[in-house]
Amino acid sequence: MLLQTLLPLAPLGALAYSSLQTQTNPLSKRDDEFNWTSIHPTPDLQYHDCYTTFKCARLQVPLDWSLDAPTNLTTNTSFAIAIVTLPATVPATDPSFGGTIVTNPGGPGGSGTDFGLSSSTRLQQILEGEKHYEILSFDPRGVYRTTPTLDCYEGDVATRLVEILQTRGVGRIGEEPDGVRDRYLMAQAASRLCEEVTANVLPHISTASVARDMVEIVDRVEELRRTETNRTATEVPRLNLLGISYGSALGMTFSAMFPERVGKVMIDGILDIDDYTSGEWRKNLDDAEAVLDDFYQNCFDANCTLRNPSDSNWTAIRDRVSAFLTEFERNPVPAFRNKQPTVLTSDDMRDQMLLALYGPNVTSEGLAQTLSDTIEGNYTTLATAVLISDDELLASPYLWSRDVRTAVGFADAVPEAGNKTLEQRQADVQFLTEQAPTLAGTLWPDITIAMSGRTVRPRYSFTGPYTVPVADPHNASTPAAPLLFLSARLDPVTPLRNAQAMAERFPGSSVMIQESAGHSALFSSDSECTNAVLREFFGTGKVPEMNFSCEADCKPFVGCKTANGTFVGEDLQVRREPFLPRMI
Ligand SMILES: *[C@@H]1O[C@H](CO)[C@@H](O)[C@H](O)[C@H]1NC(C)=O
Ligand SMILES: *[C@@H]1O[C@H](CO)[C@@H](O)[C@H](O)[C@H]1NC(C)=O
Ligand SMILES: *[C@@H]1O[C@H](CO)[C@@H](O)[C@H](O)[C@H]1NC(C)=O
Ligand SMILES: *[C@@H]1O[C@H](CO)[C@@H](O)[C@H](O)[C@H]1NC(C)=O
Ligand SMILES: *[C@@H]1O[C@H](CO)[C@@H](O)[C@H](O)[C@H]1NC(C)=O
Ligand SMILES: *[C@@H]1O[C@H](CO)[C@@H](O)[C@H](O)[C@H]1NC(C)=O
Ligand SMILES: *[C@@H]1O[C@H](CO)[C@@H](O)[C@H](O)[C@H]1NC(C)=O
Ligand SMILES: *[C@@H]1O[C@H](CO)[C@@H](O)[C@H](O)[C@H]1NC(C)=O
Ligand SMILES: *[C@@H]1O[C@H](CO)[C@@H](O)[C@H](O)[C@H]1NC(C)=O
Ligand SMILES: *[C@@H]1O[C@H](CO)[C@@H](O)[C@H](O)[C@H]1NC(C)=O
Ligand SMILES: *[C@@H]1O[C@H](CO)[C@@H](O)[C@H](O)[C@H]1NC(C)=O
Ligand SMILES: *[C@@H]1O[C@H](CO)[C@@H](O)[C@H](O)[C@H]1NC(C)=O
Repeated sequence: MLLQTLLPLAPLGALAYSSLQTQTNPLSKRDDEFNWTSIHPTPDLQYHDCYTTFKCARLQVPLDWSLDAPTNLTTNTSFAIAIVTLPATVPATDPSFGGTIVTNPGGPGGSGTDFGLSSSTRLQQILEGEKHYEILSFDPRGVYRTTPTLDCYEGDVATRLVEILQTRGVGRIGEEPDGVRDRYLMAQAASRLCEEVTANVLPHISTASVARDMVEIVDRVEELRRTETNRTATEVPRLNLLGISYGSALGMTFSAMFPERVGKVMIDGILDIDDYTSGEWRKNLDDAEAVLDDFYQNCFDANCTLRNPSDSNWTAIRDRVSAFLTEFERNPVPAFRNKQPTVLTSDDMRDQMLLALYGPNVTSEGLAQTLSDTIEGNYTTLATAVLISDDELLASPYLWSRDVRTAVGFADAVPEAGNKTLEQRQADVQFLTEQAPTLAGTLWPDITIAMSGRTVRPRYSFTGPYTVPVADPHNASTPAAPLLFLSARLDPVTPLRNAQAMAERFPGSSVMIQESAGHSALFSSDSECTNAVLREFFGTGKVPEMNFSCEADCKPFVGCKTANGTFVGEDLQVRREPFLPRMI
């Protein structure tokens, strides 16, 4: 999830934006937190029981994959990758054991361990069928429980808060005369600070390095399994991947770098790899306004709190919200929460809206309520969502996801992404504002502005081409299966068209569309049809026909289909045909 990574990190509480994956405040520490320092990092995979049903490990990998000669790994020459694995429901010796599926939640900078702890059980259930899989998640280099970390403030939360507040400013980014300039200058200062503070780690941060780490992970998983099952080596181990959002960039990079290591690679919520590596980030918000319109329509149909009795159609709601945002733009609102004063702006509302649209299935009521409260002049809900209190911040175990996002994004991009001029940055903001007039806000422009002043290049990198040879079962140098691309019909930050464009690069691959709105198919709705496609893919490597479409089983404001095929709250007379995917 791309924007899991921002600070103010998530529109919590008030919007009921339950971060889609965690269902809890992603800033807060878990009650059952495992003592990771009790594990001694090792170059082989050594699991320890953790978090009740999981197994945890700290796998040592070289800091620098560009070095030819293998050196003995020490704390100073390695990362200790934090791994959280949900074991399969059958032992590895069982014929129905399907192997290990590695996940990545996106970001870049998202925590794989948090994702694994919150989502592995659901993913395992989705895939449970003839085959039974183990789900392995890890924090990539620099992230959260992996050490060393890439934290530009070295745990100094108070100083980080100062930067957040200074960067926030008080105006609308595109409207205030100096909105872009202030952020651009602050970003340059922050970039210099980061590059100095994280000098030992930064040159080793890149998606190519993470891809190489995943080769190590699958090799060590296979090594351990051979020991446990007394099997002898037959084939080179391959990666099965379930990657969301930026996880699609990781999946495409891995596949292009190591086609002979590709097992079943399924990615969902697809980035345009050219756009991403250009450092432009201009192919994300194409459908954002359509997702918003879809929200208004659902809101109208469900007679949500935003609908007035006099409204004859959904456009009345849209027009009322737009008029409000324009008014808000002219009149920012001073507010405070706990000990934090701030000025709420229309950009705050826009950012909250975009984040909510990541998961309309779970956020629609909250978004309608927040908009309705704010339009009526009660800014409490918005302020609560925007302002993170000192206490919450101090209690947060993982605050540097934005540092990692900027570092990885810049490492993967052309060097020019770091030295764009102010005029170019302004043009970028202008572009996004035209692309998504209601929703561009500050979140998206900030992703690239934060790269201003960056110079450090990665030691180990990959610049394409992003493609693979045709999967050929008789040729071990080729992937075991073509790639499978998933997308929601309407995705606010990774539009379907990206999936269709990327699929053309990867021979034999296919795009599956789920008829839902939100970021990624898997996290925008439940769908038995999608689940069946995934079980078939991970089981046999077969992909559905291009543009194969799956119904969603949940509707915003309504709920999900029950076992008998009706939606809760829907006219019970309405019966639907069971959804059966057509496989080729
Ligand atoms: C975690 O484990 C380390 C090493 O065993 C130990 O020194 C430390 O006290 C433990 N921390 C907590 C909070 O239990
Ligand atoms: C690695 O460690 C082993 C055992 O301590 C030692 O024999 C070997 O020389 C070391 N190799 C390098 C490259 O430092
Ligand atoms: C690791 O790096 C630290 C800080 O640079 C240094 O003090 C320490 O001696 C190094 N340890 C080893 C084993 O090289
Ligand atoms: C593997 O071999 C060892 C020693 O030969 C034996 O004790 C163990 O039970 C075997 N494990 C399995 C899973 O067959
Ligand atoms: C929508 O809800 C409001 C408030 O509960 C109610 O007064 C109104 O009649 C409802 N409108 C429709 C079309 O159901
Ligand atoms: C919605 O209603 C307005 C006036 O009530 C009308 O002008 C407009 O054409 C309608 N739009 C749609 C999509 O029905
Ligand atoms: C404003 O909204 C909040 C949250 O919904 C609510 O608790 C509070 O009572 C409202 N304030 C006023 C003045 O209506
Ligand atoms: C930006 O950096 C690139 C590569 O380092 C260099 O070729 C280019 O001249 C720089 N542009 C500016 C405006 O400094
Ligand atoms: C196997 O595939 C690789 C990569 O496409 C190709 O270079 C090689 O010629 C193929 N080998 C055979 C025997 O077809
Ligand atoms: C898939 O859909 C896209 C967009 O509508 C279209 O351009 C493309 O031709 C379709 N591909 C196939 C094989 O139907
Ligand atoms: C969708 O929302 C329903 C509640 O309406 C919830 O039960 C379900 O888990 C949600 N699914 C996803 C993927 O968010
Ligand atoms: C379908 O299931 C729901 C809840 O599980 C139940 O309330 C409803 O009566 C059922 N409808 C039919 C037609 O069986």
